[in-house]
Amino acid sequence: VTGRVRTALLGAGRIGLMHAGIIADSVSEIELACVADPDPRAREMARPWAKKTSGSWESVIADRSIQAVMICSATPAHEPQVLAAIEAGKQIFCEKPLAGTLAGALRCANAAARAGVILQVGFNRRYDPSFAALAQAIKQGTLGTPLSIRIISRDPEPPPHSYPRGPGGIYFDSSCHDFDMARYLMREEVTAVASFGSALFDARARVEGDLDIVTVALQFSSGAVGSVETCRTSAAGYDQRAEVHGTKGAMRVENPSTLAIESWNAAGRQRPVNPWFFTERYAEAYRDQLRSFARALSGAPPEVTADDGWAAIALAEAAAQAQAEERVVEVAEVIRAAQACLKETRSNEE
Ligand SMILES: NC(=O)c1ccc[n+]([C@@H]2O[C@H](COP(=O)([O-])OP(=O)(O)OC[C@H]3O[C@@H](n4cnc5c(N)ncnc54)[C@H](O)[C@@H]3O)[C@@H](O)[C@H]2O)c1
Repeated sequence: VTGRVRTALLGAGRIGLMHAGIIADSVSEIELACVADPDPRAREMARPWAKKTSGSWESVIADRSIQAVMICSATPAHEPQVLAAIEAGKQIFCEKPLAGTLAGALRCANAAARAGVILQVGFNRRYDPSFAALAQAIKQGTLGTPLSIRIISRDPEPPPHSYPRGPGGIYFDSSCHDFDMARYLMREEVTAVASFGSALFDARARVEGDLDIVTVALQFSSGAVGSVETCRTSAAGYDQRAEVHGTKGAMRVENPSTLAIESWNAAGRQRPVNPWFFTERYAEAYRDQLRSFARALSGAPPEVTADDGWAAIALAEAAAQAQAEERVVEVAEVIRAAQACLKETRSNEE
C-alpha cells in the first residue's frame, strides 16, 4: 500500500476511541476514513476523529476505497469481521483476542496466510519500553539461559457491565496478553500448562461462570518453567510486572509511578500509586504499536502476526481446560482438537 492508507475502524469503545486519537495525533501514514459501530453513542464519540461514521460494518468492508481495517469491536465480532475483511482483500489490525475460540483464531490465521494480507494482533505490551528492554536483554544473552519467568498482571477493577467478556472468560480476555509476553520474552513455546482459578470478588464473574483470579503454571519446550497470575482487582492501580531468571542473572520489570517522586520518614518509604489502567500505563506502547502497523502497511514484515494471535489463544484454551478438568494439559493436544474441529467444519460445508 502506498500513500496515506484509507482505514476504517470497527468498534468505537474504550480501545477503539483511544486508537482513533493516536492515529490523529501520531500516525500520519494512516487516514481514518470511517468508524463503524452499531451504537449511535459510540459513533457520536468517534465523530471528531473520523471523516464518516456508519452503523453497518458490513457496508464499510464492502467499500472498495477502504484499504485497511482496525478491528476494535467486542470480541465475539472479531472472527466474522476478520474473515470478511480478508475476503475483501483489506489489510488488518485486530485487537486481542484474535477470536473467541482457538479453532476460530486458526481459521483467521489460515485465511490471512492464503490471501497474503497483513493480520497484526494487538499485543501492545511488546511495545512497552521496559518490557522491550527485558526482551532485548534476553535476546542478547545478558541473562544467560533463561530458566524461569514470573508474570503478574492485575487490573484495578473488573470491566464495565456493558463489556462482553467473550466465551473463554478471563483466560481469553486478559491472560492472553500474559501468554503472549511469556512466549515473546522467553523466545520459545509453552508445551504444557496447569491452572487454578476462582471467582472471589466479582459478582458478575460468578453469575457468568467466569473467574476473577487465576494462576497458570507453564512448562516451556527447553524445560524452563513459568507462572502467570491474572487478576481483575488491584487496590494499588494497574499492576503489571515480570521477572526473568537466567544462568547469568535476572531482570525485573516493575510498575512505574504516576509521579517520579519518593518520600521517606519515620513511618517508612512511600511512592505515588501506579497508573490506574491500561490507557495510562501503555500510552507509549499503543502509539508505537500503531506506528508498527503503519510500517507493515508500507511493506515491512508485521512484528506481531496472526500466528502470535492463535498461539496465545492456544495457551488460553489449554489453561481453561486444565483448570476445568484439574489436570496438566499439553498445548499440542488443544491445537490438534481445534484443527480437527476446523477439518470437520470444512467437510460439513463441502
Ligand atoms: N490491547 C488492549 O490492551 C485492549 C484493552 C481493552 C480492550 N481490548 C480489546 O478490544 C476489544 C474492545 O474492547 P473495549 O474495551 O473497547 O470494549 P467496549 O465495550 O468499550 O467497546 C466495544 C465497542 O464495540 C462495539 N461493537 C460491538 N459489536 C460490534 C460490531 N459487530 N461491529 C462494530 N462494533 C461493534 C460496541 O458497540 C462498543 O462500542 C475487545 O476485544 C478487547 O479484548 C484490548
